[in-house]
Amino acid sequence: MAKPVVFVTRRLPGGALDLLDQHTDLRLWEEEAPPPDRELLRQAARCHGLLTLLTDRVDDKLLEGADHLVVVSNMATGIDNIDVAAASERHVLVTRTPGVLSETVADFTFALMLAAARRVAEGDRYVRAGRWKTWGPSTLLGCDVFGATLGIVGLGGVGMEVARRARGFGMRILYHSRTRKPAPERRYRMTFLPLDDLLRQSDFVTLHAALTPQTRQLIGKRELGLMKDTAVLVNTGRGPLVDQMALYQALKAGRIAGAALDVTDPEPIGPDDPLLSLDNVVMAPHIASASMATRARMAMLAAENLLAALAGRIPRDSVNRDIARAWRAARRRRLASPS
Ligand code: DGY
Repeated sequence: MAKPVVFVTRRLPGGALDLLDQHTDLRLWEEEAPPPDRELLRQAARCHGLLTLLTDRVDDKLLEGADHLVVVSNMATGIDNIDVAAASERHVLVTRTPGVLSETVADFTFALMLAAARRVAEGDRYVRAGRWKTWGPSTLLGCDVFGATLGIVGLGGVGMEVARRARGFGMRILYHSRTRKPAPERRYRMTFLPLDDLLRQSDFVTLHAALTPQTRQLIGKRELGLMKDTAVLVNTGRGPLVDQMALYQALKAGRIAGAALDVTDPEPIGPDDPLLSLDNVVMAPHIASASMATRARMAMLAAENLLAALAGRIPRDSVNRDIARAWRAARRRRLASPS
């Protein structure tokens, strides 16, 4: 029997491509930039499995022409680049890679939080500009992270690991999420609060909610107005969780003290974006999960999910397993038809 055809939208770290190469008829987009929509559509129309990244848009138009498609395996925890409802309607399974990156993203969340609080990026610019003339008692004063109040918005895998680290920093931990989570609440001695109260009380607010229609622009002018003027907003989740213009205005007017952003809207952020003109903003190019080991693990999990689905198994990380029965029938049909 012919091997299933698989399209992978970028070179991946670690052994994932070798694994896919052994078991599939592998087609690979070799360039550094993502495949243009036209190319993705063309490839999707003839493959059984797609391994995508968060930069690849899988929408109804793509799915409409993807007659052989069995599975879309996204190498990310977030699946906001995929129209899951449209995939379900067309009996295409969608999988993601949660868990394997939580610790790494939590580390980076702390890196950003500490960088903003202790003005690390500003200090670096100050030294490089030759402005360091002497030790000064008031040079680049920041604020302490230890002992401060941390507000975690969204308590999934990453939020939980951030909480665990915050215990070590002796922080008071508040959280807000769709549902209350009594076990981690006890474990990390966290207090559940409505979002507005969390925003009012926190010294650092860190965003880990999934991006959905309900959470888009969760933090806007009103919410920023509730925060302390000494507070720092950290976002390693998704850029559109925040109204970026409102954030710029709040930072410029000193209504909050700082922001540390690994994600923006759009990505990449334009070089002329006003946020980049502010000293109280620390930016990174969506690299919170970018340790060598973690990216290799994400790639391998995405490959394993894809192969499992092609073999007829529903991986634990599927987001639309409710379509199982219809999907199984469609899978058999689609794998039997030549692509
Ligand atoms: C994810 O997995 O959604 C992350 O944003 C990738 O770093």
